[in-house]
Amino acid sequence: MEKIDLSPLRKQFPALNKTVDGKKRIFLDGAAGTQVPQIVFDAMFDYMVVSNANYGGYFRTSVETDEMLVGVREDVADFINAPSWEGVVLGPNMTTLTYTLMWTLLRQMKKRDEVVITRLDHGANIDSWKALEDFGVVAKYIEINKEDCTLDYEMASRLIDKKTKLVAVGLASNAVGTVNDIKRLTQMAHDAGALMFVDAVHYAPHFPIDVADLGCDFLAYSAYKCFGPHVGFLWGKKELLEELNPYRPWPSHDEVPYKYNIGTPNMEGFAGARASVQYIENLGKKFGKKFLSQYSGYNERRQILKAAMAAIAEYELGLSKKLNEGLSQIKNLKVYGITDPERLNQRCPTYSFVLEGKTSEEICKRMSDEWIYVWNAEDGAGALELVEWLDVVKKGGLLRVSLEHYNTEGEIDRFLEVLRSIAK
Ligand SMILES: Cc1ncc(COP(=O)(O)O)c(C=O)c1O
Repeated sequence: MEKIDLSPLRKQFPALNKTVDGKKRIFLDGAAGTQVPQIVFDAMFDYMVVSNANYGGYFRTSVETDEMLVGVREDVADFINAPSWEGVVLGPNMTTLTYTLMWTLLRQMKKRDEVVITRLDHGANIDSWKALEDFGVVAKYIEINKEDCTLDYEMASRLIDKKTKLVAVGLASNAVGTVNDIKRLTQMAHDAGALMFVDAVHYAPHFPIDVADLGCDFLAYSAYKCFGPHVGFLWGKKELLEELNPYRPWPSHDEVPYKYNIGTPNMEGFAGARASVQYIENLGKKFGKKFLSQYSGYNERRQILKAAMAAIAEYELGLSKKLNEGLSQIKNLKVYGITDPERLNQRCPTYSFVLEGKTSEEICKRMSDEWIYVWNAEDGAGALELVEWLDVVKKGGLLRVSLEHYNTEGEIDRFLEVLRSIAK
């Protein structure tokens, strides 16, 4: 079958084409925030010039702003296959939205209730829930299998029981790339009468998301990890959002989803986020045709968005194989997470490793000198509990290389070439 090649899309990303001091840069830091296509900048500019206003007024720019804020919710609902835009809450980022939800759920919890989390996750999906311990709630951890950084589901099934009120787990690890079986965990949570919260920040730019299929109750992700600006989304089942009672100041409304708004939204950011979904839709129309039949049960737009993400997943799998193989050939280098070439579809193309004798800071700086941007993850790039548990802090932390669909095999070759010279 013909190999999918998404590299023609690179010309839509100004940052990828810009030369700085005569050099093109290689961005292998997408897990910390992706680069952004021109269509997003244009939408933000247009919004600021044509429609800039606060929401809720009766004049034209304000009405357009209201429409845009519904429009971005519709886009997100399409992207994650949610039943309606009314379940989509807008916020500055995933972490702030998760704290909002934590304060909201706290109102329903009592002492000795339990939340189940995992060290595999970013601090945003650990510390938000551990904060509940100050109120007598008990946080319990699903353990991780050391050899491949996957979750111990047998243990999870023993841990999640009648005392559990919430299971909060990520769809994928931003540090070691593992994709988690959220459907299975959701089943366990619901069987025990608990709610399921999913952090989809790392997963969102790599694979199709379907909240209806996952069955989860809440899911959060950020547009800036998904080719958009720095804004975030929280989706929740509408009936749950209606039932819950978030702390909120006047003038937040009482209706869903507005009652979860805290302060004035970042309008230009959400206008840009709309365009980032449009970018993905355009990608689907051009490159997703062979995947459409897999998603025939969806309406046309959702089908195209799913096919787009399937095209991204297939292209990235090719990049992932190349990087995995290249890293395996470097002596004294240990990759954490799944490395079995047959199982690379169970991980994101996000690789973290330790190279003996070199700190991640040193590698990062040497790479930067060569115009290659990777992440020095002494703190696990937010997954601090994971790097502590892996015991890699004293080895100088993890070096994280994270690929996106705008990266190329040539960029991986160049990265590996520089890494080999550092490893000498
Ligand atoms: C997996 C994961 N979850 C949560 C977050 C926090 O997201 P935000 O910056 O939108 O608060 C990040 C950020 O790196 C992340 O990678």
